[in-house]
Order: sequence, then structure tokens, then C-alpha cells
Amino acid sequence: MCGIIGYKGPENASEIIFTGLKRLEYRGYDSWGIAAKKDRGLFSLKRAEKLGEFEGKLPETHTAIGHSRWATHGGVSERNAHPHLSCDGNIAVVHNGIIENYQELRKYLMSKGHLFSSDTDTEVIAHLIEDYAKAHPFRESVLKAIEHLRGSYAIVAIKADEDEVIGARKDSPLVVGIGDGECFLASDVPAFIDHTKKVVFLGDEEMAVLNNGAEFYDVVTGKEIEKEATEVEWDAEQASKGEFEHYMIKEISEQKDSLLRAVAHEDKTLMDIADQINNAFGVFFVACGSSYHAALTASYIFSKITKKHINVVYASEFPYYEDFLTERTLMIPISQSGETADVMAAVKTAKKKGTKILSIVNVMGSSLMRASHSCLLMNSGPEIGVLSTKTYTSQVALLTMLAYACVGKLKEGKELVRKAAEAAEELTSAESRIKIVELASKLHKEEHMFSIGRGVSYPTALEAALKVKEVAYVNCLGFCGGEAKHGSIALVYDGMPCLVFSPSDETKADILSNAMELKARGAYIIGVSPENNETFDCHIKVPDVGDGNAIVDIIPVQLFSYYLAKLRGCDPDKPKHLAKAVTVR
Ligand code: F6R
Repeated sequence: MCGIIGYKGPENASEIIFTGLKRLEYRGYDSWGIAAKKDRGLFSLKRAEKLGEFEGKLPETHTAIGHSRWATHGGVSERNAHPHLSCDGNIAVVHNGIIENYQELRKYLMSKGHLFSSDTDTEVIAHLIEDYAKAHPFRESVLKAIEHLRGSYAIVAIKADEDEVIGARKDSPLVVGIGDGECFLASDVPAFIDHTKKVVFLGDEEMAVLNNGAEFYDVVTGKEIEKEATEVEWDAEQASKGEFEHYMIKEISEQKDSLLRAVAHEDKTLMDIADQINNAFGVFFVACGSSYHAALTASYIFSKITKKHINVVYASEFPYYEDFLTERTLMIPISQSGETADVMAAVKTAKKKGTKILSIVNVMGSSLMRASHSCLLMNSGPEIGVLSTKTYTSQVALLTMLAYACVGKLKEGKELVRKAAEAAEELTSAESRIKIVELASKLHKEEHMFSIGRGVSYPTALEAALKVKEVAYVNCLGFCGGEAKHGSIALVYDGMPCLVFSPSDETKADILSNAMELKARGAYIIGVSPENNETFDCHIKVPDVGDGNAIVDIIPVQLFSYYLAKLRGCDPDKPKHLAKAVTVR
């Protein structure tokens, strides 16, 4: 869950690495570091602080690597920040992933006289390369070092007396950017999108060597391989904050466009997927976090529109269902990043059973996309803020259209999402925000909240609770309205805020009764609904888009969470302990 980057070219590498790291901070931001070739040695700098706090100077250089960390092995400290260096300080390595056998490798290397200066798993890689470099050229030493590693890795390495920047990966992402006389290696495209849109997605157990251009190797055979470059559609503006204070608010505001991009998917693409769903014997939606909530929402929509039962399973729990899988099962993993380790493990389980994998992913070239038999790219554009916002609504929109496609009503499904896109524009307008800011100002000292819904709005309530929790650190409990009286109602106190999702559908009467039960015990009811109701102490008006309400009802709460976070002094783009791509299990 860290961000790594490397550069080789005529520009000032330190500046390129520093700016690239800022774009990768969403992957981890508890510490950072840079190593660069300088004179005949390596310059290295590590900081246990946010990148934005750095006021020092970096050397002018043309070859450098960098890292933004989300700690796994070893606490957050300067000594554990990357890059990690060999004993002689001539080799520097940055790493994303987990080396499972690092303890045994560390013992082995220490017995050979290597001295360690961190508690990380990564440091063994620098020492292994150093060990081989005594008798082998740099790239061969990297290949030989990799042979020892168990677990997942994306690494970038440089050596003081070599011109090359070397990168390799297994189960962690690494992409190569090919510019005009310059090359990049990074965990994700936004790190270098200002410089080039031409990318090569490295496959598992592949290595890239940047020098004058890029060469590619198979890590297992050591043989050179041909790789094709792809042009990515994203542009630098999409990957930057522009006039916005945070990525989170920028991405919330972009939802009209991201939803329209979902509608723009070709009918044939969506109909082919609908056919696969209709012909499968058992369909599993598999995801984590917000993507799981999108999947759960879709299961209600599928039930209503297609009369079909969809199994929805947390990716981390999926392996325990393996006995249900056959060659006729269709697994649909849903993931913004396409790198979530739990999702990847679930895919591995399903593949062993011969199950077909059709993924829904936002990041092109991601591990999940490559591991799937087929893939629907979400086209939401880059989502850099740690919280899923626009990708969540795109997922719900795409799955809604697929439900309609399954019963031959794709046109109707697309029309629904088009209406939702219009509603998203209204809900994110400056005028709509005034009320949300007022509400956040009123409630920002509260430490506990409820969030309830029924039917298709139940997952919306879960997603709303997750947003409030993860960015504003308010203990918000999400559940289905009918469950309050079975236990959670005991927590209600006078003035406790409670979000109530009450669209004009079959759930309306029941959810309003549940809201009344909470109000009778002192809860402050915030109704998210097309119409006001006497139960509500505060009414957040949302347009009525029928079966598209699950797409739009979350938007006011995304905004509420954002403003709540700001008022509580939390950084919306860097929620504590979280990272965007969760590549650990
Ligand atoms: C919440 C959030 C996470 C992700 C989860 C799955 O705002 O972003 O809960 O939804 O980590 O991530 P992906 O969709 O990348 O598999």
C-alpha cells in the first residue's frame, strides 16, 4: 500500500520524483523518502512527516527513486522510511508489498556480515542485491535477489555506479511511462501523467530496465521480452486538484461527468455481460468496503428488476464459499483500484474451481483486470482521494444498467442513470452545499451517529456510515431500519444525529416508522428524501429518480462527511491509518 516511483531522463529527477510522490500520497502518507544519483554516489533523504511539510532542498540529478509509505513492517519512523540502502550505501531500493520470508532472509544476510538499519521487510532486498552485485552486473543481481523473495513486491532500485533504473513486480502494481527521451516507473499512472500518457503495464514477474528507453525482461527466465505501450485516456488535469482544496471534494463534484461516462458504455459491451449473467449458474458479486456496498445495492436492484438472486460476498470471506463454486458460476469482482489483496485472493480461489471471472474495475492495467477472463472498465477517471466517492456511484450506476440489460431494457436503465447524472449536478451545486455546510457546522462536535435505510437504501445507509467514520472519525453505526429495535436502539440519547434514507419507494412507510421510534427516544432525525416529513428535524432534499435513487442519495452524505471532516480538523484526503489501494490481507 505504498507509492513508489523512479525516473531516468534529462529533467531534474528530484523534482519529478517529489511531484510524483504527491500524486501517489493516496497510497500511503505516513513517511516518505528519495534516493538520487549524485556525483559518484547516492544521495538519500527520508522523512517521517507529510510531503507537504518539507521545506528543504533536493539535489539536481537525472536519476532518482522515491517512496510514500503506509507502514506494515516496522513503525512509522525515519529509519523505517524508504529508500533502504545496502551496507555500502551504493544501492537504494523502494518497495510496495510484503516480503513474507524477510526474517529468514535477514538472518541469512546477517550471518554473511550485512548490517541492518531498519525494522522493515524491504531492507533485505537492498542487501540481497548488494550480495550478488559483488560478482554480477546490476540487473542480474536484481534478478537473482528476486528469486529469494516470497510474498508480493513492486520494487524500484538504483546503484551508484550504474546508469540504469530497475523495476520489477509480483502481485503489486508497477507501470512504466515512456516519454520523449525519458522514462518513469510508478505504482500508478497519475504519478507521471504530466509528462507522458504512453504506458506499459508490467505483468507479474516482469522487470523493466530504464536507461536510454525501456527494456523488459521475464524475471523467471531472465530473457528479454516485447511489451506493447498503451495510451491512457486520463489527462493531467483529471489527476490534479485544480481549483479544489482537496481531491475528495473535486471527485464528489465530478459525479455528473463520471455517471455520464458510465452511460457512454457501448450497448454491445453491456449486453454481452448481461448475457453472461443470464447464462450463469450462480452469480457472485465480490468486493470490499464501498465497492461491497455498491454490490449489495445492486443485489436489491437485480432482485427487483430481473427477479434474480445474486450472492454478495465480502472478498475476505469469499474463500470460505469455495464449495459453492463450479465451472458454470460467474464471479463478478468489483474494485475501484483493481489491486485489493482480498479481492485478488478471492479471484485465485475461484479460478482454482474453473469459475469465470468478469471484473468491474476503474484502473486500467490493474492486477484484477489482468487476472480476469473479461473486464468492464468503469471509466470514472482517476480517483485520487482516499475515499471512494465518484467510483462508488459509477459502480452502482453500471450495475443498475446491467440489471436492466439482463431483461432487455438497457435503454431504460441508461435513461435512469442519465437522470441520476442530472441529479448529481444539482446535489453538488453551490446552492445545495449551503445546507450541508450548515448541518455539518451544527453537528461537528457529535461523536456518535446512526444511519438507517431499508431495502435498496440499506446499503446506502452502510455506505453513508462508512463515509462519516473514515473521514471525520465519528462513530456512525449503519444498519437496516428494522433492526434498531433488536438492539442498537439502546444506544440512542437525546440529540443523537440519525441519517434516514427515505426515497419514494416501497420502503418509505416502514423507514419513517423506524425513524419515529428513534425520534421518540430523542434522536435528531436527518431525512434524506425527495419530500419533507414531520419526522425529520432536518430535511436534505434529493431529486426523485425512482430506481436511480441509490445512485444519488449518497451524494449529500459524501459532502456532509467532507465538511464534517474539515470542521473537525481532519484532512479529507489523508484519513488516518487508511490508504487507497489495500494491497495487504
Ligand atoms: C471507502 C473505500 C474503501 C474501498 C475498499 C475497496 O471509501 O474507499 O472501503 O472501497 O478498500 O477498494 P477497491 O474498490 O479498490 O477494491
